[in-house]
Amino acid sequence: MTPTDVSILLTSDALQTRIRELAAEIRRDAPGVELHFICVLKGAFLFLADLLRAMKGPVTVDFLAVTSYGTATSSSGEVRLVKDLDTGLQGRDVIIVEDIVDTGLTLHYLQDILRARGPRSLKTACLLSKPARRKISVDVEYIGFTIEDRFVVGYGLDYDERYRNLPFIGALP
Ligand code: IMP
Ligand code: MG
Repeated sequence: MTPTDVSILLTSDALQTRIRELAAEIRRDAPGVELHFICVLKGAFLFLADLLRAMKGPVTVDFLAVTSYGTATSSSGEVRLVKDLDTGLQGRDVIIVEDIVDTGLTLHYLQDILRARGPRSLKTACLLSKPARRKISVDVEYIGFTIEDRFVVGYGLDYDERYRNLPFIGALP
């Protein structure tokens, strides 16, 4: 498959506009607070990059990576941490930055292990949400777009490690 087979669901402009709104909302809820952003690799790397550039006030950033066994379009729900954070979370105001909440299993796992590290607050920002596929209820304070149950790629999201470079969110046929 080539990128020309991908139909655009969310344009680059729509993404940027919404991300600026999210950044303003996150800052409005935590005025003056140093926010510690945790990017969930790999899918959230572009979202993190644009969200951070739109954030005002003090911020720090760290990265972790998870993997879930399964096929290219459907995860098994068995989540494994493959890269941990560089620094601790004790007393910090943490925002998890994730690409998409689908079944909810990945975020549920991450919120659990990160909460155990003693942050002062823990919130989640997710660019996309597919509520139709939720298997476990999970709190996501900031959601960019709610989408239908379609497999999407681009803007960091992959199908078999491809399409992450597309500047828009698209659907595979
Ligand atoms: P969950 O654990 O089922 O909520 O899945 C979350 C992870 O599955 C995300 O971080 C993505 O990496 C991946 N994922 C779920 N839906 C899609 C999609 O439509 N396109 C690309 N990746 C997806
Ligand atoms: Mg993925």
